[in-house]
Amino acid sequence: MKTKTKIKTLADYVDFPELDIMGRAVKFKEWTNNLDYNKHYNYKRVAMNASSPIRLVKDRYTGETREMIYFASNDYLNLANHPEVIEAGVRATRKYGAGAGSVPLLGGTTELHRELENKIAKFKGCEKSIIYSSGYGSNSSSLLSLLGEKDIAIVDMLAHASLIDGCKNTNVKYFKHNDMSSLEFVLSKVKNNFRTKLIVVDGVYSMDGDIAPLDKIKELAEQYGAYVMVDEAHATGVIGENGHGTPEHFNLSGKVDIVSGTFSKALGGVGGFVAASEELIDLLHFYSRGYIFSTALTPQVAGSMICSLNVIENDKKRREKLWSNIRYFKKNLIDLGLNIGNSETAIFPIIIGDDLITKEIARELHEMNIYVNPVLYPAVSKRLSRIRMSLMSEHTIEHIDKVLEALKYLVKKYNLT
Ligand SMILES: Cc1ncc(COP(=O)(O)O)c(C=O)c1O
Repeated sequence: MKTKTKIKTLADYVDFPELDIMGRAVKFKEWTNNLDYNKHYNYKRVAMNASSPIRLVKDRYTGETREMIYFASNDYLNLANHPEVIEAGVRATRKYGAGAGSVPLLGGTTELHRELENKIAKFKGCEKSIIYSSGYGSNSSSLLSLLGEKDIAIVDMLAHASLIDGCKNTNVKYFKHNDMSSLEFVLSKVKNNFRTKLIVVDGVYSMDGDIAPLDKIKELAEQYGAYVMVDEAHATGVIGENGHGTPEHFNLSGKVDIVSGTFSKALGGVGGFVAASEELIDLLHFYSRGYIFSTALTPQVAGSMICSLNVIENDKKRREKLWSNIRYFKKNLIDLGLNIGNSETAIFPIIIGDDLITKEIARELHEMNIYVNPVLYPAVSKRLSRIRMSLMSEHTIEHIDKVLEALKYLVKKYNLT
């Protein structure tokens, strides 16, 4: 069922020529009030327990604490609440304190930070790495310092905002999402005009769960003299024989020029990294402003993330369980006739294509104690508005079946197929 609804979106509140920032903020209240009026305010839900398949959530409208099946996490391997990962963080805090106390270059580097740098570089098959206090920072800050006006970034249209924001100092051309003819077309047009050509992609796309064809991207890069940067935020720990990510998945470990990622998804923590050649990382250490001018990760996170990497290396069953959940959920979503795009990993877009129905479905799922996120225009195009669902290794078949049962009801009610 498609409705012709004229509803206001975030894009409608970006610019008001006559209003200053305070006026614009007051005007924006109209949007949040409207969400609240319709019980569509599904943002910043307050959790009362650790990230886990069942989330205790304080309901914005009733004040009661609800037990919800949590299908909205990037903590794919449930490491955020893993006893050894927590314990490693506690030990690190006891020894090194609650904060690093300084930026990494000027006093904030402990032996744990050094160990984490070495470990993540090795995990990614690269010579060296640099660690940032967020994944957003690792992408945006590294790109901002590497690419200037004589260079060009050739970027997948659906690349993450942190990559796109990192290209603000340079020339940018976009190619159609995962479309190799489009990439080749762009590469052929920019052939020899720029000092550096850098192809920038996500390994696994955060809103679609599909995988970049890195083997073909690499071939085209070689053919046209370009470098490749891949953001491994949603791939690390999830894909590749050993969970090492997209390069491993395509047998390209150590062969991609720049590999970035976060500790905030399957590793269950926070912070980000870039791994590459020793020379490139040394350059970033002294030119990347998000690194130089920002305090190092807390010792707790560094200690916990070392432990998360050990768990990923040693406990393959977790990844196997996640993949068994992925196969089960995917098969059943397809059987229900839902449009899940080209999802191949733990992220499932349930594409609805109508903002209002998407919000209504998110509200209904919330009321059925199922925690998911609506993704609306302008985050995705209007015809692709969706419910984003994601799986964790500790989801049981019972959790998944309850979600499928709810979806079955909604498919019928909203005529979704
Ligand atoms: C693809 C991608 N890259 C980078 C980031 C930023 O990572 P973080 O949340 O660790 O800052 C995210 C997450 O939000 C992401 O989805």
